[in-house]
Amino acid sequence: MKRIGVLTSGGDAPGMNACIRAVVRRGISLGLEVWGIKRGYRGLINGEMTPLNRRDVGGVIQKGGTFLQTARCPEFKDPKGVREGLRRLNEMGIEGLVVIGGDGSMRGAYALCQEGFPVVGVPASIDNDVWGTDIAIGVDTALNTVLVALDRIKDTASSHGRAFLIEVMGRNCGYLALMSGLAGGAEAVLIPEEEISLEQVAQIVEEAYKKGKPHAIIVIAEGAIHKTSEVAAYLERDEVGFEVRTTILGHIQRGGSPTAFDRLLASRLGVAAVEALAQGKSGVMMGLKGNKIEAVPLEEVIRSTRTLDPKLLEMALVLSQ
Ligand code: ADP
Ligand code: F6P
Repeated sequence: MKRIGVLTSGGDAPGMNACIRAVVRRGISLGLEVWGIKRGYRGLINGEMTPLNRRDVGGVIQKGGTFLQTARCPEFKDPKGVREGLRRLNEMGIEGLVVIGGDGSMRGAYALCQEGFPVVGVPASIDNDVWGTDIAIGVDTALNTVLVALDRIKDTASSHGRAFLIEVMGRNCGYLALMSGLAGGAEAVLIPEEEISLEQVAQIVEEAYKKGKPHAIIVIAEGAIHKTSEVAAYLERDEVGFEVRTTILGHIQRGGSPTAFDRLLASRLGVAAVEALAQGKSGVMMGLKGNKIEAVPLEEVIRSTRTLDPKLLEMALVLSQ
């Protein structure tokens, strides 16, 4: 193998740049030429590719986002899109590919492998919904960003004695909400994986005040069973009567300089991905298991769903008593 490609796909995540840097520099050190493919599978289909040298990835390790840019490309879900991507790779003499992205991006990577093209995936998504790794690139940074906001909101919530709803990202996965709730001492956490009635939420808020708390903080995942506006409206109803404020953190959670943890994880996974490709491996995603980097079959990654440990939700409630 002489020439490989690297792309970032799906939602951007802090640490993607550190991973591209690792792929490029480790690839070159192994005697490979590394080409950057712009805007994920969209750029692949359009043939937007350029060679990257060591200097091209200088000064990016500390930067959020992805300098290769990313995209959602529905055409790639169609076999025609995959074939077009393959045609582009062959045209450019690229013989292997590193795909950095979330759950959907790993499906795209698997589709390419199914056509016989060597691909290794690297999990990067602040949602931490990718099966086969303890944690994906970007999660730690996003979690710390949420905590900064949560701590600040607590200051103002306590001063006014208010209940606050803090909405965090997580379309289908409550990881960010649960972990930030635990680490930030939220009174309640609402996630897509676990039903909690509006009456129960109101009761938690009521009990928080009865216990003498100056506030009640509820962290809510964007994909939670009850939407943020619905919870706010319920808590503010005359019969319930709390003073509620809502903060939707939104895309602030996706940006920012990656933490040391994410830079290290991204570097380790990027290096492992290139080494795997160079050794002739394909159809795997590199993941963190404990403190080890391990290869997990992409087929397993896309067929399995990550679940949250229900004990952690219980723990969040107990610790916020
Ligand atoms: P993420 O990778 O962050 O989960 P998405 O779910 O939006 O983000 O997926 C990113 C891209 O991966 C999609 O826009 C599409 O190009 C590709 N993709 C997603 N699912 C599939 C699939 N089943 N087959 C092929 N490509 C897919
Ligand atoms: O990165 C994952 C994620 O943040 C989801 O939690 C969220 O629903 C989605 O991406 C939103 O991304 P976009 O605005 O890019 O579609």
